[in-house]
Amino acid sequence: MNPNKELWEKGNFSKLAETMRDSADRLVDRLGVTPGMKVLDLACGDGATALPMARRGADVLGVDIARNLVAAAQARVAAEGLTNVRIVEGDACDLSDLPDDSFDLVLSMFGAMFAPCPLDVARGTVRLARPGGRVVMGNWIPDDPTMPAQILRLMHEYGPPPPPGFVPPTAWGIEANVIERFGQAGIPPEAITMEPAFKEFRLDGPPSALLDIFLNYFGPVIRVFEALGPGPRADELRARMLALIERENLGDDGKTLIRARYLLVTVRVPQPAG
Ligand SMILES: C[S@@+](CC[C@H](N)C(=O)[O-])C[C@H]1O[C@@H](n2cnc3c(N)ncnc32)[C@H](O)[C@@H]1O
Repeated sequence: MNPNKELWEKGNFSKLAETMRDSADRLVDRLGVTPGMKVLDLACGDGATALPMARRGADVLGVDIARNLVAAAQARVAAEGLTNVRIVEGDACDLSDLPDDSFDLVLSMFGAMFAPCPLDVARGTVRLARPGGRVVMGNWIPDDPTMPAQILRLMHEYGPPPPPGFVPPTAWGIEANVIERFGQAGIPPEAITMEPAFKEFRLDGPPSALLDIFLNYFGPVIRVFEALGPGPRADELRARMLALIERENLGDDGKTLIRARYLLVTVRVPQPAG
């Protein structure tokens, strides 16, 4: 099986996505999604941004590699009775079954950054956006002190050595890489804007409850603990994760609120000259 698919089908990412619903909604407001807009939500998870875009009247296609998350997104779509959003299984590394210039907006929040094929992602997303359209990515930033980047760093530190040629997902959080990758897809640097943005994790429970969600439901964390097995190193990793979440917590009264920084990338796909 595709290791990336296997990784994300572990656990149940929805449990973590539920802590970020408000944030996804606010991002969609910021994107200026309007009725009738054609949108591809690439690596859409359980529909975190696909549903809010559809509620605002966009015509949305959600694509994700994880079968369980596709099913979760489809169930959420059905529960709301939305008819303008379709969710299908697919791989950001091979979008060849979708026609060129099909979307006003191609969005991938903390999604396509995890596909092990950055140039295919850059070329594929640019090909699918119409001239004058946008590609928008949200990418965690390597070495950022806020929680998600630090969780990913800890997984790298305690996890098994990556396979040869592995490109870290957070390489998408470095501006020079973004320019390089989209440059190879024919996008000039002046068509790319990058800015820091913030995502919030909110939980009606203490930091230890957020830790439990990571440990029991988040594929990349589950995989590292499976490889470690029980023992002092696993205990140490759990303790470091809890200390990190407690340090980053802005909530009070036994609640958890984490603000996490990411790189918001907007590519404006040029119109053909003439
Ligand atoms: C951190 S989750 C983010 C999900 C969603 N975009 C959100 O904001 O909640 C990462 C998502 O990327 C998906 N993913 C990872 N690699 C992928 C690939 N190669 N093609 C499509 N989806 C992929 C995973 O299945 C997972 O749903």
